[in-house]
Amino acid sequence: MSQTTIAPATGAFPDGFLWGGATAANQIEGAYASGGKGLSIQDVMPRGITTEPTEGPTPENLKQVGIDFYNRYAEDIALFAEMGFKVYRFSIAWSRIFPNGDDAEPNEEGLAFYDRVLDELEKHGIEPLVTISHYETPLNLARAYGGWRNRKLIDFYERYCQVLFERFGTRVKYWLTFNEINSVIHEPFMSGGIPVPREELTDSDLYQAIHHELVASARATKLAHEIMPGAQVGCMILAMPVYPLTPSPDDVVRAMDTAHASYAFGDIHCRGAYPGYLRRFFRDNGITIEITEQDREDLTHTVDFVSFSYYMSICESADPGQEKGPGNIMGGIPNPTLEASEWGWQIDPQGLRVVMNDYWERWGKPLFVVENGLGAKDQLVEIDGEPTVLDDYRIDYLNDHLVQVREAIEDGAEVMGYTSWGCIDVVSASTAQLSKRYGFIYVDRNDDGSGTLDRYKKKSFGWYRDVIASNGATLS
Ligand code: BG6
Repeated sequence: MSQTTIAPATGAFPDGFLWGGATAANQIEGAYASGGKGLSIQDVMPRGITTEPTEGPTPENLKQVGIDFYNRYAEDIALFAEMGFKVYRFSIAWSRIFPNGDDAEPNEEGLAFYDRVLDELEKHGIEPLVTISHYETPLNLARAYGGWRNRKLIDFYERYCQVLFERFGTRVKYWLTFNEINSVIHEPFMSGGIPVPREELTDSDLYQAIHHELVASARATKLAHEIMPGAQVGCMILAMPVYPLTPSPDDVVRAMDTAHASYAFGDIHCRGAYPGYLRRFFRDNGITIEITEQDREDLTHTVDFVSFSYYMSICESADPGQEKGPGNIMGGIPNPTLEASEWGWQIDPQGLRVVMNDYWERWGKPLFVVENGLGAKDQLVEIDGEPTVLDDYRIDYLNDHLVQVREAIEDGAEVMGYTSWGCIDVVSASTAQLSKRYGFIYVDRNDDGSGTLDRYKKKSFGWYRDVIASNGATLS
């Protein structure tokens, strides 16, 4: 009789686990109009998503200088190396490569900048993880074409991808197609370059734009596999578990419906076709979109892994009187059992384990946690003559979330790595503030634009270095 041995769970992070940090071009680079770069939608969003876009760039937009990564990338990457990063997730600014999005030729100066960044990463043995599009659609594609509502963007994006894959394909193995692709439902301009407020956008127009992005993502995946054998392409989803506010079946069904809105993106990326519940949603709401035979074929090119951001969970209720609270882009009904950050984002480390089990069981693809962190106000103090930040609150937040990653691994999920968000302070995406800090490295720049841009190591810097060096054994 054959005997099956079930190995005891070790609770350990696997060998080769990719520890690191994440940023996005528009939130760090600055040099918004240098090096041949064109304008992106971020250049007309001086207050993030809190106000309407401006006509053109305005000087109060902190992203114009960012944290000056464009000039200080070598110093910053050396600090990442000092923490022991195995991987660094960053995005390529589309408008640095194609200033208008529809240009005939790419901008060599832009490509050369990312060559230099990759040189530096190689020097320190840090694996790059590249987001192809992170909330920075070229402004011209938004203003002249209507953003992703326009099918032409699929071709422009594919050409952009081709240039990236041909140029960087031997140096970059891991690629993400669109940052938080499901966020377009809530933020059509920032996420989809669609210059129409959500209230004025019909659902058919919105889902047509989503369809174009999904087809573009699938085509990029196919192209990546053709040009770069061995490359791994992931989708990137804004993950936010949805709990029913009460045990009432009405609340449970409501929570399921809300969860479906985001699941759809993963289902299509992983299974290569529209799920039944989404087709029903279209029927019930009179949504019609154009899907060609070629589109259907393109969508069958599925991703190699699933990456996601995780900051918080939300509740859902069938009671229309329940009000939504603040949160990462979509927000939701607050959970009465949870505390929140200074920006009102509720803190739920166990939600990360829930998401990881859920995604792993649903799609069976390796997972990569590519964003997680605490946006907080930091106070610079001097210890032994050195400026620093005693950010125990950040250490606690990250420790508690990483413990849940370990739990999910123990539950059986295959996890490629973890990149904490804003490993160095960045300009916030939602509010465009610098005072909403996530980093292990403090950047001396304030919301009014003042500051030296000098970098200082926070207490969490040494903590994360120890976590990485011990492959998670120092987590408590
Ligand atoms: C994610 C984005 O939504 O959350 C990042 O991918 C963003 O770009 C991060 O910075 C944190 O959000 P915020 O609004 O605090 O910057």
